[in-house]
Amino acid sequence: MKKLRLGLVGVGQMGTRLIELAPERGHTITAEFKSNYPFTEERMIQAKDRVDVWIDFSHASLTEKLVKTVSEHQLKLVIGTTGWYDKLDDYKAMVQNSGAGVIYAPNFSTGVYTFNKIVEFAASIMSKLKAYDVAIHEIHHHEKRDAPSGTAKSLAQTLLTHYKASGLKKKVVPLAPGNTDIAADTIYVSSSRVGHVVGRHEIQFDSVEDSIGLIHDARSRNGFALGAIRATEWIYDKQGFYNLDDFFADLLGNQE
Ligand SMILES: NC(=O)c1ccc[n+]([C@@H]2O[C@H](COP(=O)([O-])OP(=O)(O)OC[C@H]3O[C@@H](n4cnc5c(N)ncnc54)[C@H](OP(=O)(O)O)[C@@H]3O)[C@@H](O)[C@H]2O)c1
Repeated sequence: MKKLRLGLVGVGQMGTRLIELAPERGHTITAEFKSNYPFTEERMIQAKDRVDVWIDFSHASLTEKLVKTVSEHQLKLVIGTTGWYDKLDDYKAMVQNSGAGVIYAPNFSTGVYTFNKIVEFAASIMSKLKAYDVAIHEIHHHEKRDAPSGTAKSLAQTLLTHYKASGLKKKVVPLAPGNTDIAADTIYVSSSRVGHVVGRHEIQFDSVEDSIGLIHDARSRNGFALGAIRATEWIYDKQGFYNLDDFFADLLGNQE
């Protein structure tokens, strides 16, 4: 495996984990943007020759500038930051054919990727059973800035694809606190923020007779961080705009 020089955009909870874990895979952190030395295009260009791949775990307010910079200068970037997916098509257009290589994911953990596949399979069955309603609930630590989580939104889209096809649900809506006006054609996503919960996602299929629950509970941030580090190794020699399906198609069966 090639030993990489990695640049961090954001040294918060996830960035700190990357600093701990990158050396275990032989990589070196050679640049860091953080609150007292913020990311700017100029600084990223200055650091260009000592960074092979950038990893962003910061804030969605930076994503546009970041994607523009890597596109204009043919850099490699792993985007872990969530909360910008309404701009996905714009950013994809910016990166494609620019010579840059970008991979993004709302959640880089292998467990969550697999969970999404299990949810997809469950949705393919449950969306055909009118007796069962469905909802998503996610719980995170009190410092998380976006709600619902990017992972919950992604799981909701997975459900919606199947429920739209069967005609049982038409849209996904975040469940606002105190809202009891529940529409039958809507998949609701609710959020709690408490203590130090790393990340819990629950899918509930519920009928008069019984209830089926699927749960993913992250035990630490290491799963996200290791996944993001593997993504740097994967994107290093690629050009284009990728998601986790592209990455896991290569990775599954080749875990180190
Ligand atoms: N894809 C995944 O697997 C995954 C996993 C976990 C989290 N996430 C996402 O990753 C993001 C970060 O999560 P986190 O838990 O690490 O959050 P965090 O602890 O708040 O860290 C974000 C860091 O970015 C810094 N930052 C803000 N503006 C900056 C700028 N202009 N230049 C450089 N650094 C800047 C913040 O500094 P200040 O604190 O000083 O503002 C903070 O240290 C969130 O969007 C979260 O949802 C994704």
